Amino acid sequence: MTLLSNQAFETLRQIPLYVPGKPIQEVQRELALESIVKLASNENPWGPSEAVKARVIKAVTGSAYEGLGLYPVSDGFYLRSAIAKRRGLNLGQIILGNGSSEIIEMAAKAALLGGGSGVAPKHSFAIYGIATQTAGGRFIECPCSPTEMDVDAILGAVQLDTRIVFLGNPNNPTGVMLGREGLARLVRELRDDILLVVDQAYSEYEDPETYPDAASFLDERSNLLVLHTFSKIHSLAALRIGYGVGHLKLISLLERVRSPFNTNMLAQVAAETAVQDYAFEAFSRARNAEARQAFFTEAANHKCKATGMAGNFILLESALPAPELFKDLLRAGVIVRPMHGYDLPNHVRVTLGKPEEMEAFWAAASVVLDNVGCGCR
Ligand SMILES: Cc1ncc(COP(=O)(O)O)c(C=O)c1O
Repeated sequence: MTLLSNQAFETLRQIPLYVPGKPIQEVQRELALESIVKLASNENPWGPSEAVKARVIKAVTGSAYEGLGLYPVSDGFYLRSAIAKRRGLNLGQIILGNGSSEIIEMAAKAALLGGGSGVAPKHSFAIYGIATQTAGGRFIECPCSPTEMDVDAILGAVQLDTRIVFLGNPNNPTGVMLGREGLARLVRELRDDILLVVDQAYSEYEDPETYPDAASFLDERSNLLVLHTFSKIHSLAALRIGYGVGHLKLISLLERVRSPFNTNMLAQVAAETAVQDYAFEAFSRARNAEARQAFFTEAANHKCKATGMAGNFILLESALPAPELFKDLLRAGVIVRPMHGYDLPNHVRVTLGKPEEMEAFWAAASVVLDNVGCGCR
């Protein structure tokens, strides 16, 4: 059987398959469990807010301008206007994606049109590498510790043919963050013909007063794209919507690789309401901070090593290989994310859930970990 050209076949074979968090229904089907807790994909367990749900219901019911039978507003004008207002930006500086993952793909596609390489720190979101490779680029992972982001390592990994650099800030799955000084160095010292993508998917979980927003460097660097998603603190992961902000000219170029109608109407109206709902964000941020504190306390009680200072997740290291701990927890009805595919062989990533979900996690984890010992101290 012949599939594609030899070259396409070989290139595609080398691209790793993205492994998503296991859905609750799948675990229910496979293990016939009654109660399942999912702490695997960094979703916000508290939402979406009532205002957002009401807005979606209204949109489903339909009006002269909305309804499921009509195409959505292709460029998301109304949502982009709300984002522009919130961020103090021009409408033309904002692009929407079917999740911010799609904007990562658009950025790679645009930057790597003439070939070249993309760079990201080791232990980063898998889509950076996958998007680079599917755009025909070579992916370079720079050495980076799971506990600290290293600007010199990123700059040092850049090659003559590098066209795009990705930074998750905070970084998933390690939960490390580059401060304002480090970010400023990267923005200023990275060659200006390289597109710098700063992925701020988890930024809204940080203190808005102190968070080093890369968008504050937009006047200094035009080759800069800052990404946000509605999948995390806004709790709209099912609807698939995210946005990127950048220089007017950069966004107008990215618009050329965006598919028409890439974001759907329900996602647009939900996100338009969510982006103005500061109270829900503050509520979620506060619950997340409490859950983080409680997690570290519990990890210390079990003599486990937990790391990650930002985002809505924690990396937990144990004496067990990650796939084993993952399976043991799964059998107890708790879904986490094993991290061996991110070169973290003994780590699982645990999303911070509601107090009762974290109780279920520790009830299951204690049985396993107290038996084998965490072995990390
Ligand atoms: C760092 C990072 N960026 C982007 C995304 C993708 O989010 P979206 O659902 O908007 O595609 C994720 C999702 O887990 C993430 O962790």
